[in-house]
Amino acid sequence: MTASFPALRLRRTRRTAWSRAMVAETHLSPANLIWPLFVTEGRDVEEPIATLPGVSRWSIDRVGARAKEAEALGIPCIALFPNTPRELRTERGEEALNPNNLMCRAIRAIKDAAPGVGILTDVALDPYTAHGHDGLVDAAGYVLNDETSELLVEQALVQARAGADIVAPSDMMDGRVGAIRAALEGEGLGHVQIMAYAAKYASAFYGPFRDAVGSRGLLKGDKRGYQMDPANAEEALREVALDLAEGADSVMVKPGLPYLDIVARVKARFEVPVFAYQVSGEYAMIEAAVAAGAGDRDALVLETLMAFRRAGCSGVLTYHAAHAARLMRG
Ligand code: PBG
Repeated sequence: MTASFPALRLRRTRRTAWSRAMVAETHLSPANLIWPLFVTEGRDVEEPIATLPGVSRWSIDRVGARAKEAEALGIPCIALFPNTPRELRTERGEEALNPNNLMCRAIRAIKDAAPGVGILTDVALDPYTAHGHDGLVDAAGYVLNDETSELLVEQALVQARAGADIVAPSDMMDGRVGAIRAALEGEGLGHVQIMAYAAKYASAFYGPFRDAVGSRGLLKGDKRGYQMDPANAEEALREVALDLAEGADSVMVKPGLPYLDIVARVKARFEVPVFAYQVSGEYAMIEAAVAAGAGDRDALVLETLMAFRRAGCSGVLTYHAAHAARLMRG
């Protein structure tokens, strides 16, 4: 039992800034950030994304400068997402396996510009398929598990050969982490990490992302046949257990803020590095609140990121990464 009032006055330690700093339980630094970047074809292109105000797609020749910016800001890692040209999107998403696709060229450009910055790549077929799903679809519209997993293994290898440091399967097929791990080991790429999108929910918060990678108009139906039901938490723990057993080095929970209970439970149960993705719809909500005069951007950004850290995240994928890192540096 601790003391009670007035021997105990919890406001005592809150009175001054130096004291608040001394008792802070959680800290936030640029090292806790992963910066998602969208890449597109063309030269000297910066294309704003209407539903993600302040976020752009960059052409390959300009992505190196972003990587240098990350390095200067102390952001350790960039996550890459391609806006594949429409004409290259097919039923089976073959462009995902092209060693010269946008993703692979972006990886090489970043490694040239800033070799010390980590690169995380998304493993899933949705930026490459004509139907916008993360995998192969059968005649009934069902996303096939094992057939998709085989392609994801090839996709992960293509990315790793191009220089990806962390491959991050975001597709929610069963068994793909183990298959990718075995393939990487088999190719002498055993140093490449796997960050599993272990608990990825079928969420309404992904809308602006689908605009950013050009798949919104294409998506037939929804992703509830493979992404998780927002009603479930125990199932998230089972997903994480499986992905860790299959060889994931770290796990991700996605979306972010509405799922901090999942982050906290995963961290408590497994004691492994846990990341969260503060997704596009969350970013858009903050920006809409700011635009409406309902909140202060800097304060909202830092508070939400601190909340992720408090819940147990090692780091957060956030479109506010560069801005947040600048704020932290003062
Ligand atoms: C694709 C993928 C998605 C996101 C990351 N990887 C979208 C989806 O599952 O439809 C969403 C990220 C965001 O909303 O910021 N596999």
